[in-house]
Amino acid sequence: MTGGRGAPERRAPAAAAGAGRAWEKGSRAHYDDPLYFTRAYRRRRDDVRYYTGLALGSGGPVLEYGCGNGRIALPIARSGIAITGVDRSAPMLRDLRRRLRGEPPSVRQRLALRRGDMCELRLGQRFPLVLCPFNTLLHLYSRRAVERFLRRVREHLTARGQFVFDVSVPDPEQLGADPERRYRAPRFRHPRSGALVRYAERFDYDPLGQVLVVSLVFEPAGRPAAAWEVPLSLRQFFPQEIEALLHYNGLRVLDRRGDFRPGPAPSDCTTLVYHCRARR
Ligand SMILES: C[S@@+](CC[C@H](N)C(=O)[O-])C[C@H]1O[C@@H](n2cnc3c(N)ncnc32)[C@H](O)[C@@H]1O
Repeated sequence: MTGGRGAPERRAPAAAAGAGRAWEKGSRAHYDDPLYFTRAYRRRRDDVRYYTGLALGSGGPVLEYGCGNGRIALPIARSGIAITGVDRSAPMLRDLRRRLRGEPPSVRQRLALRRGDMCELRLGQRFPLVLCPFNTLLHLYSRRAVERFLRRVREHLTARGQFVFDVSVPDPEQLGADPERRYRAPRFRHPRSGALVRYAERFDYDPLGQVLVVSLVFEPAGRPAAAWEVPLSLRQFFPQEIEALLHYNGLRVLDRRGDFRPGPAPSDCTTLVYHCRARR
């Protein structure tokens, strides 16, 4: 049976290794430009408030996986809580170290940084609060990577400690978007070059790998030939899948919030925030 609009064009099967390499590239490229990252997410404040509140409530120390250039780690350290940030991106960590130089010594002392893969790194320390904010989990593309990561999480949690992370809920419109179509956003001045750029996004979803590649398209005003694209590969985890992964990897969901608001998550929320504890 075919639908009223005719059968969709068949796509060539993704060559597993090639697709894996492309996703891997899209898990790093966005973080090669910390100045743009800071500008792009400067208005995202709800999660910063939420995680800082949790850190204060826990008393610390806190472990943050995928700390990036400190959008969340820095406010936590400023609030008086000791935090260890793990990230594998050299540019993001370099930018965070640069920002730290402008902080008082007490804040600098509270923030310890470790470069490495969050699926592998062992710190030999347990924390009452382990965080993995802002879709960092979506950079794990295989079941094995998720399993290795959740094992590390359990190894770093105290018996009553909480693991808290947030992920975007898959958006059917983005998953079904025509990969050639550009969704345009207002022009802005790029923080690195200072040049005015037109900005657009393209969405290309692989339904078998469940990976959405978002292409961030930057086009300097009046110079289309100088346009460049930055891929961002995001594994799409559906809520029931997350619950199963947590369950079968020794974690119990204590609470699930929507969009960093109190109370149960409403069905139209765009971000899910999970609070988990290791099962005995
Ligand atoms: C969306 S950013 C979040 C940064 C910061 N937590 C924030 O909220 O602004 C994701 C971060 O995770 C890091 N990351 C992705 N995969 C990683 C991995 N396997 N191990 C360590 N860091 C990783 C990236 O380098 C990036 O800095």
